[in-house]
Amino acid sequence: MIDQETVNRIIDTADIVDVVSDFVSLKKSGNNFFGCCPFHNEKTASFSVSPAKNIFYCFGCHKGGNSVNFIMEHEQMSYVEALKYLAQKYHIDVKEKEFTPEEQERHDDRESMMVLNEFAKNTFIRNMTETDEGRAIGYKYFRERGFNEETIKTYELGFSLSDRKAFTDFALKSGYNQKYLVSTGLSILKEEDGYIFDRFSNRVMFPIHNLTGKVIGFGGRVLDARTKGVSVKYMNSPQSEIYGKSRSLYGIYQAKATIVKNDKCFLVEGYTDVLSMHQSGITNVVASNGTALTTDQIRLIHKFTSNITVLYDGDSAGIHAALRGIDMILTEEMNVKVLLLPDGEDPDSFARNHSSSELEDFIAKNETDFILFKARLLLKDAGNDPVKLSGLVNDIVDSISVVPDSIKRAFYVKECAELMSIDEKLIHREINKRLRKRRELWYADEQKKAEQETAPQIVKTFNQEQEALNLCRKYEEELLWLLIKYGNDVLFVVAQGDEPSVDVKVANYIIKDLNDNNIEFKIPICRRVLEMYTEAKEKGKKPDATTFTLCADVEVSQFTVSLLMQTNELSKLWDSRNRYIPPEDSNLRGVIDKALNGYKYEQVKQKLQEIQKQINELQKEPGNELKITELTTELLVYQKYRKKLSEFLGRT
Ligand code: CTP
Ligand code: MN
Repeated sequence: MIDQETVNRIIDTADIVDVVSDFVSLKKSGNNFFGCCPFHNEKTASFSVSPAKNIFYCFGCHKGGNSVNFIMEHEQMSYVEALKYLAQKYHIDVKEKEFTPEEQERHDDRESMMVLNEFAKNTFIRNMTETDEGRAIGYKYFRERGFNEETIKTYELGFSLSDRKAFTDFALKSGYNQKYLVSTGLSILKEEDGYIFDRFSNRVMFPIHNLTGKVIGFGGRVLDARTKGVSVKYMNSPQSEIYGKSRSLYGIYQAKATIVKNDKCFLVEGYTDVLSMHQSGITNVVASNGTALTTDQIRLIHKFTSNITVLYDGDSAGIHAALRGIDMILTEEMNVKVLLLPDGEDPDSFARNHSSSELEDFIAKNETDFILFKARLLLKDAGNDPVKLSGLVNDIVDSISVVPDSIKRAFYVKECAELMSIDEKLIHREINKRLRKRRELWYADEQKKAEQETAPQIVKTFNQEQEALNLCRKYEEELLWLLIKYGNDVLFVVAQGDEPSVDVKVANYIIKDLNDNNIEFKIPICRRVLEMYTEAKEKGKKPDATTFTLCADVEVSQFTVSLLMQTNELSKLWDSRNRYIPPEDSNLRGVIDKALNGYKYEQVKQKLQEIQKQINELQKEPGNELKITELTTELLVYQKYRKKLSEFLGRT
């Protein structure tokens, strides 16, 4: 949908350091920048950014690529979305082709639903500022609750008029498809008579954004006067292609930058809690919208930080219910703290009734590590009741046992043992029991899977094939690495008699050898890169690293960045005697010949296995003598070839 020229311009313009810095704090070291990898949990900075090459690479998790790859991965965007994001950042015009009516129909439903939501959001905002009803009711409501102009703007709050068909009619009149009004849930269609009306009439509106700021759903609150039992307080968009209550977090778009910056996220229950906290200056705050926290939501937060603080209302019924969800956060390797608000307060009221500095002070003083908090709370509840006390130990042990890090577990055991005056050993024993049980369950599960899937014989061949394929991959990657890195260098000069001398470049040498031997790469991505390379050469270009790392094919760029950064991995190819020979230091010709011959050796070995298998099959039945003789001759030829290759490679 975006033309190639624009794509190239975006990739050229987007400065990797600049792009990454929006999400990761980087420190300069030599020619490169380093920071903590946003794609895996780490304490040392193994995430590197090279401004010269315009790429990033993590030495820990081996993720790498150019600016587009980074945005796709970090923001969980599609290729086109990432390009648009970068285009916007660098003020590059993206000319998209107009849709024909047919294309329009085929056009992604998701996209259309988001477009409609955007329209709805703007309509609700306009209602609130430009209609008498909106100003007198909606706007007044928000202001009376203490939300200022800036908060209203930041969260794009709005108002849905009291007329039951106001929005639906306006949308239809503006050319929006009824199908999407229904699928987004903005309108409700009565199947019986086709009557269609607004889901959210007469409510103040809270748009729910995804990570990139697109509106995926809405929450609509009735006005105070009508709250009392007349209708549901909050009406939310129904589950759809683009919105799921358990998949989204309210406020994540507005919060994500500060979450990264402060390396911490506050979790509250509802819309107004987010707004009030934000207005008080605590902007790294999101809400689970009244539901129990889900794994999807935790992972959404985990993209930005490992530290989460959960805020609870003071009443104890709520606390106990919420405690249950937290073990799940621990399982995800997050550090969880809790903050208990004074009785009768929720984050909204507390933030409203205290100054920003009071709020910050209160948080700093009262934030408690979750497991210790839970232990203390349950201990207080249990009093001297022995039954409750033993239940308490079990409960705490459950929580500790799901913490993945053993050092952290040991710390909790120590603290909790002291708190509950129990022997540490006893807690360890209980935890180990649970760990063992979980491991056994896991084994049993794996075993069952293995039994169901394959007979042992097949497992073996599968592994052999897999192994052979892995070896191929190693050689193919090595050859590509040599091609990309040294392709344009002169390998040797051929000078004969008085003919003009000829420079033989590395690329010509490798490609000719592969062609002469009829070798095609087996791994799809390697084949693609090799094809790109030869094509570029045929066009008279000199392909180098940037041809691939900065190319528009995201898979290729990701692959080549990882490839070019992993020199140590590749040189393992030659460690039959555990010696490391960096190709740069050895003679290039020798290294290339080794790679080519090593690859051929693998292929010959596989060919030999194939022929042997064929012979074995043929021997099972009489009358195949001639065929067998033929194959045996072929076998001998290949064996000789293998011997030559292995002599060259110095293998026995
Ligand atoms: N909620 C909901 N549907 C309801 C009630 C609540 O989706 N019928 C969700 C909303 O996201 C709400 C959150 O649960 O924000 C917390 O509910 P509650 O504490 O009742 O609402 P508040 O956020 O405190 O809203 P308000 O202060 O306006 O009463
Ligand atoms: Mn409230």
